[in-house]
Amino acid sequence: MRVTHRRALATLMALGLGAVVPTAVVQSAERTAAELMDTVMWSREPIGGRFALTDQNGVQRTDADFRGKLMLVYFGFTYCPDVCPTDLQQMGLAVDQLGNVGELVQPIFITVDPERDTPEHLKDYMPLFHQRFIGLSGDAGATKEAARVYQVYYERVERRDLSDYTIDHSAFIYLMDRDGQYRGFFPPGTPADRIVDVIRPLIESARHP
Ligand code: NI
Repeated sequence: MRVTHRRALATLMALGLGAVVPTAVVQSAERTAAELMDTVMWSREPIGGRFALTDQNGVQRTDADFRGKLMLVYFGFTYCPDVCPTDLQQMGLAVDQLGNVGELVQPIFITVDPERDTPEHLKDYMPLFHQRFIGLSGDAGATKEAARVYQVYYERVERRDLSDYTIDHSAFIYLMDRDGQYRGFFPPGTPADRIVDVIRPLIESARHP
């Protein structure tokens, strides 16, 4: 949430100005936030693929369950105070704004904080954004693997002032097509209108090939 969201926005602004992408600051993960963000920003490596996680109803889900639908996939955590909820809200609004064809879009939230974001907790949280939102969690290994295939950066950050912790993470909304292939990303703070503008032609082209 905090630093990485800002860094992603800074990177996008830098791109807009034709400037150099900021260099790595966080170094503790196997791959740094900046490395992973560059990977997504420039599509340097394949993005998306298999995940095997548990939904908010306790049902095992894999990416294959959503073939035939477009997937909007977002990694974050429910205790994120501002950016995650804002992006999740825009995802939900986009599905609504699509009207009937919104049925063909599956919004998916994957937590990078499974310790606190249990299926029970996600069951309360997801409907805040859309009734059709699927909230997925897994053990540490399954979470790490899902984040790896989507090139997501996340790292637990202890807070000295509180007994609590927070999680620094990249925050892209990934758009996957009906075949589960990656089509692109929306940066943090993308409004629902923009998401709809991108998705609607994809849906139309599939209906009228
Ligand atoms: Ni966040």
